[in-house]
Parts: sequence; C-alpha cells; structure tokens
Amino acid sequence: MKPINVGLLGIGTVGGGTFTVLKRNQEEISRRAGRGIVVKMIADKDLDKARALAGNEATVTDNAMDVVTNPDIDIVVELIGGQTFAKDLILEAIAQGKHVVTANKALLAAHGTEIFAAARDKGVMVAFEAAVAGGIPIIKALREGLTANRIEWIAGIINGTANFILSEMREKGLSFQPVLDQAQALGYAEADPTFDVEGIDAAHKITIMAAIAFGIPVQFDKVYTEGVAKLTQEDIRYAEELGYRIKLLGITKRVEKGIEIRVHPALIPTRRLIANVEGVMNAVLVKGDAVGPTLYYGAGAGAEPTASSVIADLVDVTRMQTADPTHRVPTLSFQPDLLSDTPVLSMDEVETAYYLRLQVVDQAGVLAEITRILADLGISISAMIQKEHASDEDTVNIIILTHDTIEKNINSAITSIEALPVVTGQVTRIRIEELSS
Ligand code: HSE
Repeated sequence: MKPINVGLLGIGTVGGGTFTVLKRNQEEISRRAGRGIVVKMIADKDLDKARALAGNEATVTDNAMDVVTNPDIDIVVELIGGQTFAKDLILEAIAQGKHVVTANKALLAAHGTEIFAAARDKGVMVAFEAAVAGGIPIIKALREGLTANRIEWIAGIINGTANFILSEMREKGLSFQPVLDQAQALGYAEADPTFDVEGIDAAHKITIMAAIAFGIPVQFDKVYTEGVAKLTQEDIRYAEELGYRIKLLGITKRVEKGIEIRVHPALIPTRRLIANVEGVMNAVLVKGDAVGPTLYYGAGAGAEPTASSVIADLVDVTRMQTADPTHRVPTLSFQPDLLSDTPVLSMDEVETAYYLRLQVVDQAGVLAEITRILADLGISISAMIQKEHASDEDTVNIIILTHDTIEKNINSAITSIEALPVVTGQVTRIRIEELSS
C-alpha cells in the first residue's frame, strides 16, 4: 500500500526528534501501522537546519502553508507552537481535508472547541497525545483504556520544569532562580518560561484532560492557576517535617456542584508514589470508579519522549483514516453532540485542606486570636506547630494544617489574620491534597 505522507511543520526539539525516531524505527512502525509513514515535506524558518535534517528524503520549505496546501500530504504535524500562525495552519490543513497531529497544548486548551468542530465538519482527525505529559500516553489511557469508568478525579505532575525546580530546591537547598536557569539550559522549559513557572503550561494540559475525563468542552479561561515562584525553602522544609512534599499539581475533580479544574502547589503525603516523582519526570494519577487509582509515569518533555507520542498519533491516524468518521474514537472521548454543560466551579467553591504559615509576634494571646478567626469561619485545625524564631528576633513561624474547608472561607480567614497587628507579613497558603483512594 502507498505510504502515508507527512508534512512536518517545525523542526525544533520535538520536530527533530520526530523525524529521527520515525526514520530509526521505520520498519517496526510500518509493521504496526500497516503501511509506511514518511515525512515528505518539512517546513522551518531555518532552511539550513531543515536541509541538514531532511537530507534528500524530504522537500524543504520555509513556508509552512506550502506544506498545508500540498495535495500530496495526508497528515500535517504541527510542532511550531503558539496560538496565531499555528491555528491558521491547522485550520487550513483541516479545510484541505488533511488530518492533523499537534503537540500544541496552549492552542487546544484555548481554541480546541473551534478546531475540533472544524475537523468534525471535514471528517478529519486532530490528534494531540504529545500535548499532555510528553511521552506518557495519557490521552490514550483516558480516552480508551479507562473508557468504562466514571472518572472521579485526576491529579498530575504535568510540568517537568516546575517539578525539576521543586526537586532541586528540596534536595540541594538551592533557591528558585538558579534552578530555573538550569532547567532552561537543559531545554525543559517552554520558550516563555513563565508558562512553566506560573502554572500556565500545566493549566493547558489539565484543561485538555478535564475535557476528556468528564466530557466537557475545553475551557482554559475557567482554570484557576497558581505557580511555584513564591515557594520558599522554609515551606519546603516545614512540609517535609510534617510528612508532606510540595508539588505543582494540575487537578480536576468531579464534585456535586460541578467540576473543579485548578493548578497550584500542593502538599502531598510523602508516602504517596506520586510525591516521589522527581526532576523533570511527569506523573498522572487518575481515579476511576471501577478501576480505582491508576498512575502513569514517564518523561514529560524532551525530543524523543515527545516524538514517541507524536508518532503514536501518526500510527493511530494511519490506522483509523479509512474508518467512518462517526465510528472513530471521539476527539474528547465522548460523542461530540453529547458533551455535558456541567459547570466548572470557581476557585471560591473548591473544598480542600490547607497549610498556613504565619509569622507572628511571640506574645500571649496570639494563638487564641488566630484560632478564634478560624473557628468563627467553621475551619477546623488538624495540626499546628510553632517554629523557632525567624530572622527577626521578635517573631516566630506558626504552621497550621486545616481539615477540608471551602476556599472562600480560607480567603476570609487569611484576610482577617493578616489584619491582626500581631501578624507580620503575609500568610503563606498552600493547599493540601491527600490523594487518597
Ligand atoms: N515545558 C514543559 C515542561 C515541556 O516543562 O513540562 C512539555 O510540555
């Protein structure tokens, strides 16, 4: 059978890896796909680099639209990134009746609804395994492997850069900036590292997983996002003493009133497997009602791990392209006309436990004032410790762990506590996720 012709847009880290792995494992990949998959065209602004990679195996251009509009190309692989040009290219590829494989999480989290609808109208597929957790086949697991389940929640370490930063800070006692510089030098970080540090990249990924888990449209604008930039050595150390490790988690959960989608640092009990995922590695914990908790672990970034997911999509598309579009695996797992309008909850309504660190003047009655504020809001304390004097001799650190309460109440408590004259500085608040099954 004639091979499937691929047009590769972008030969950065992932594009280069895709070309290399496809070439290296060509024979086995063809045996799996049922026909050859060959990169016929490559588009990149750096023509010399593209020519060096392509040799005489693929045509090279610096105009990506040439690839998208070429009738010989069956599948367009978009690895350029960004939300403007990449969107135009994908929509044009779809309009031309081509299948699309992309790793562009930012684009899908924000514009997935429009892109998936366009693909449906044209009867083509948009595949995006590489958009979430790099080499981990989590989209496949959620969409197919776990399809019997009512998914209850997902909690993932889905940004390698942030996890690397937290691991290095904890293990080596380093501060934030030098570790970020190292992550960038190692090529883990996004082009704009604020995406990693501020939790935006993780929010893109959890948006996509929430849609697939719960059969809702992608809704990036409703996601609560908080990053790791404000975490200190002190909090990492205190959490450790209390039996917890701080991780940046992407969480989505089905609760009575709706669906939570959020990204923030969280204390996780150290005994949980996921708490021990270190460095640039990713892990996603999925709780299904039938299967219970399942954990997926692997490289969340990098050339060949991410290429592994891109190529898995190429094989999938190749295998499925002859199937009647309505009987293919649906893009968001649920049939497109059966997506649910269950609301995504505002962060105020989210219920969880909290770690609070307060710096207070060391004098009689201080604790009583603080616990009164918490009690008046119905917030129950699960543990409390007073630490040694901070650098300022007159103040001490108090760490309070609470039982579950709603975010709105903890926000009010923090406002009232910060207004007390005996409390110096801001209260540090980190959510606690027990992740128990
Ligand atoms: N910057 C991302 C990370 C890479 O650090 O996980 C893959 O999305």
